[in-house]
Amino acid sequence: MTMKNLMVTGGCGFIGTNFIYHLLEKPDFRGRIINVDKLTYAGNPENLAGLEEKYPGRYVFQKADICGADTIKTIFSKYEVDAICHFAAESHVDRSIKRPEDFIFTNIIGTFNLLEIAKTHKDRFLLFHHISTDEVYGSLGPEGLFTEETPYRPNSPYSASKAASDHLVRAYHETFGLPTTISNCSNNYGPYQFPEKLIPLVIMNAVEWKSLPVYGDGKNVWDWLYVTDHCEAIWTIMQSGERGQTYNIGGASEMENIIIVEMICDILDELIPSPERRSRRDLITYVQDRPGHDRRYAIDFTKLNRSLGWRPQESFQTGLRKTIQWYLANRTWSERIKTGEYQQWLQEHYGQA
Ligand code: NAD
Ligand code: DAU
Repeated sequence: MTMKNLMVTGGCGFIGTNFIYHLLEKPDFRGRIINVDKLTYAGNPENLAGLEEKYPGRYVFQKADICGADTIKTIFSKYEVDAICHFAAESHVDRSIKRPEDFIFTNIIGTFNLLEIAKTHKDRFLLFHHISTDEVYGSLGPEGLFTEETPYRPNSPYSASKAASDHLVRAYHETFGLPTTISNCSNNYGPYQFPEKLIPLVIMNAVEWKSLPVYGDGKNVWDWLYVTDHCEAIWTIMQSGERGQTYNIGGASEMENIIIVEMICDILDELIPSPERRSRRDLITYVQDRPGHDRRYAIDFTKLNRSLGWRPQESFQTGLRKTIQWYLANRTWSERIKTGEYQQWLQEHYGQA
């Protein structure tokens, strides 16, 4: 099976950007990537600047909303799309609590549109790979791990919308025979993550000696997956995963939020010490908890490991240090997004902010 024209949705976001770089360097992928992204506040095409020139004929960008069926149909036909890796989503849990509508449109209707269009091209269509989250499984107690058989119990509007999209993908395989795979992964971290999420937010604030908000008692336990490990897992599943199957992807790095925040403080104190030898841990501020905050996530990735041989390569300690170093080396990247300079750039290039 050779994918010649792979549509990557949401390629200007955090994981999509990392995936595109990862894939273009893979000797076993010689096809073309068609990056389809609406450029919401979270999508930054500057991440991928210069790729058309660096990889002639192998990368194109199309600004489009996956909810717009006609535009997506046109792109499908124009580029003879034969596979999709579907990242595009509204991804931030806190935003889904304040304003769930966009999550329902993009995550559910958008996924439905893509499936429908893929179905009409079933004769040439090779794979619909859907990127999902461990949050669809709900919350764990102190023991146990999520497996692919764990019942769905989403607790936020975000995770409920992702759960709905997972079910649609499954149904299009069962009912229409569409070749699909789904992956449910834990929290990603690494370069290019929008600084509203815990790790980049804390790094940016700590660099500027601003307060570091920790929700509730800070003892919620998440599993952390370095984004490059995630990209490799996705490509492994796309190439060799059994069609119609779901695979869990985990980082084998369970950690309380407060420990992560303290680790970031300590690494930054070492890299950029305060002249007065102050500790950034003093900036930690416990704030009101997130409503419906899950207590613990942990992933059993035995299926992916046993069937396809994948396991994460990065330890949390090394991955976190690399991530901090990336944000320190790319401070203008975060600052531009946060100050609205980037929104102005979007307006000039794409006629929208
Ligand atoms: P992100 O918010 O950084 O990026 C999302 C991208 O999708 C942006 O480029 C945005 O412009 C684009 N987009 C949003 N709505 C769109 C629409 N209607 N049409 C076209 N493009 C649209 O997200 P991320 O963190 O890179 O997450 C990518 C995927 O991975 C999502 O499906 C998310 O649910 C899933 N996921 C993320 C994590 C994580 O830790 N970040 C973990 C598990 C699963
Ligand atoms: O588990 C996978 C999910 O990880 C993905 O499906 C989502 O798309 C992605 O956004 C991420 O969701 P989270 O809600 O886990 O990410 P966030 O960085 O917002 O929060 C991580 C943990 O840190 C969570 O327990 C809430 C806490 N937190 C978060 C922020 C932003 C804080 O304590 N303070 C904060 O300021």
